[in-house]
Amino acid sequence: MLKIGDIEMKNQVVLAPMAGICNSAFRLTVKEFGAGLVCAEMVSDKGIVLQNDRTLDMLYIDEREKPLSLQIFGGEKETLVKAAQYVDQNTNADIIDINMGCPVPKITKCDAGAKWLLDPNKIYEMVSAVVDAVEKPVTVKMRMGWDEEHIFTIENAQAVERAGGKAIALHGRTRVQMYEGEANWDIIRDVKQAVNIPVIGNGDVQTPQDAKRMLEETGADGVMIGRAALGNPWMIYRTVKYLQTGELMGEPTAREKIDVSILHLDRLIALKNEHIAVREMRKHAAWYLKGIRGNATVRNAINESSTRDQLVGVLTNFADEAEMNEEKTHQAG
Ligand SMILES: Cc1cc2nc3c(=O)[nH]c(=O)nc-3n(C[C@H](O)[C@H](O)[C@H](O)COP(=O)(O)O)c2cc1C
Repeated sequence: MLKIGDIEMKNQVVLAPMAGICNSAFRLTVKEFGAGLVCAEMVSDKGIVLQNDRTLDMLYIDEREKPLSLQIFGGEKETLVKAAQYVDQNTNADIIDINMGCPVPKITKCDAGAKWLLDPNKIYEMVSAVVDAVEKPVTVKMRMGWDEEHIFTIENAQAVERAGGKAIALHGRTRVQMYEGEANWDIIRDVKQAVNIPVIGNGDVQTPQDAKRMLEETGADGVMIGRAALGNPWMIYRTVKYLQTGELMGEPTAREKIDVSILHLDRLIALKNEHIAVREMRKHAAWYLKGIRGNATVRNAINESSTRDQLVGVLTNFADEAEMNEEKTHQAG
C-alpha cells in the first residue's frame, strides 16, 4: 500500500497535480470516484508569502478530499520555506509537495520547476530547508531530467531522500520533451531501486491496464494519473477497481458523464462564482463529452454559455439526444 510519512492511502491511485484543473471542485469529484490521494494544482511560493488573495484562495481544501497533497513551486530558499511553513500551519493539507517538473519558461526562468533538475546539490539544500521548517511530510514531484544530455534522475531522487523527503513522484520525461514522445517507465524502475522512500510512477497511464502494467514493470508504490482523468473521473474508479479485483468496469453512459459534469460545475460555482465557473467549465465540458457521438455539434453552444442555466440546458439536451441515439443503436443491434 502507499504510505507517505504516517499517512496511509487506501489505494495506490493518485490524481496528478494539474494547474488550472485540480482545484477543490475537481479534486473532491475525483476523490468520490475512489482516488487514494489527490494532488492540488501548483501554487506560487511568492503568492503565498505576499498573501495574494487569489493565491490564498487556491489553498482551500474540503475535509472530504483528504488525504491531499498541496504543491508549491519556487526558486529561492527563503520564500519556498516561508510558503511551506504557511501551508503547514494554515491549511488542512496532509502533504507538502515541491514542484520540480514544471517545464514552462515562465516558471523555469525563475529557477523553479524543472530547472532544479540540473543541480542535485540545490535539491538537497532546498528540500532539507523545507523539511526542517515544517511538521507535515514533504514530497517532490519531478521529471527525469532537463534534457537528454542532463539526466541526473538517480542523483536527484537520492538527494530528495537524503534531505528527508518522504516520497517522490516521477514523470518519465525530460523538460525539453514537454509532453512529446513516450514517457520512460524504465527510469521509474531505476529510481525505485535506488531509494527507500515510496516512488509514484507517472506518465502516459491512459487505461486501468496501463496502470497495472506500470506498477508491475516499475515496482512503484503508486500510480499517478493526469490527463486521462480530465473529464473522466471514471478512469480513477475503473483503475482502483481493476487493480483491486481484476475486473474492468464499463465506460459511463452519456447521461452519467453529463450528470457528473453538472455536479462538477455546481462545485466550481460554489468555489468561485457563476461567471468564472461557467467559463472555466467550458474546457471540462468538452472533456466530459469526449467520445460521445455528435459532441462537436454542441461545442459552440457550450462556449457561448455564460450562465449556469444556459450551460446546464445545453448539456441536458445533449444528454437526452445521446440517450435517444444509444437506444436506437441498442434497438438496431
Ligand atoms: C493541464 C496540465 C497542468 C499540469 N499542472 C501541473 C502542476 O501544477 N504541477 C505538476 O507537478 N505537474 C503538472 N502537470 C503534469 C502532470 O501532473 C503529469 O505529470 C503529466 O500530465 C503526465 O502525466 P499524464 O500522462 O498522466 O497526464 C500538468 C499537466 C497538465 C496536462
